Amino acid sequence: MSTAASRDMPRGATASTIAQAKVNLFLRVLSREASGYHQLETLFCRLELGDPVTIRTAVRGRSLDCAGESIPPGGLGPVERNLAWRAAVAFAGAARWPNDWAIEVTKRIPVGGGLGGGSADAGAVLRCLNALAPRPLPLPDLLALAATLGADVPFLTLDAPLALAWGRGDRMLSLPALPERSVTLACFPFGIPTPEAFGWLDDERGMFPPVSKVRRVEEITSWTGIAAIAHNDFEEVVAARYTEIARALATLRGMGGADPTAFAVLTGSGSTVAYLSPSDADHARARDGRLAGIASRLMTTRTTDAVVGVEVLG
Ligand code: C5P
Repeated sequence: MSTAASRDMPRGATASTIAQAKVNLFLRVLSREASGYHQLETLFCRLELGDPVTIRTAVRGRSLDCAGESIPPGGLGPVERNLAWRAAVAFAGAARWPNDWAIEVTKRIPVGGGLGGGSADAGAVLRCLNALAPRPLPLPDLLALAATLGADVPFLTLDAPLALAWGRGDRMLSLPALPERSVTLACFPFGIPTPEAFGWLDDERGMFPPVSKVRRVEEITSWTGIAAIAHNDFEEVVAARYTEIARALATLRGMGGADPTAFAVLTGSGSTVAYLSPSDADHARARDGRLAGIASRLMTTRTTDAVVGVEVLG
């Protein structure tokens, strides 16, 4: 039987995990709510690429330290606006614990590129704090808290490698992992401002927004099915404004991949273009020269069939 004292004892004081990035294998923007937000239908897939995140609670004061090769030259902006920090503040408010923390993030995920880096860091902070908390939040409460931080955060707080999401991205159906495949990421030295991208779409569209595309979940439980519907509604409006993105997509699609289920797709509202193929030869062709001079950085990663767990270090 637990006593009041043991109930309030943290289960450890340090936890760490890898905040893995996501790609949207397809993304449809449905109707616009009166609030200005949009209803979405998207297939989220986790990548191996991730930011190592460690959080310590047996400290005095609150701190967030970010380092790593993906920090942009202008830095990450004020700590209070960082999603990892905001996640800790939100968790402390909901769970009434902890008072103090020290968060360390190694930024490997390109920032502002639609790969969910900041959102994954926030999800990692929520998962780590919940693993340490004397009274953890039930998962639905943790996901509701995640939704207050951004549309990508609920998926990136879940330990699912693949999920279909609706609403603002907060209603999710977790799906079995697909066979892992390699991913080439064509990255650009700029992000796309997400609110503006939604605005561009609103301006383009007539009275009737598109309707849901996925009719049967079976359509998205194989790479063949996903390749047939892989498309991002932001693509046209973003590619029309950023010729490098249009060229990257056209180059990858015109390459004539060896595998019929290979495809290229914009992730989130951009700017990153992801190329997914099970064929190493396809990735080599994509990297060797074809994308050079278009993307500022090419990264190689894989989809993952399991999300990295939280390690409580003591
Ligand atoms: O959720 P996130 O912080 O990524 O959203 C950034 C902005 O994108 C929101 O402030 C809103 O303008 C727009 N957005 C939207 N509909 C969504 C998600 C985001 O209109 N479902």
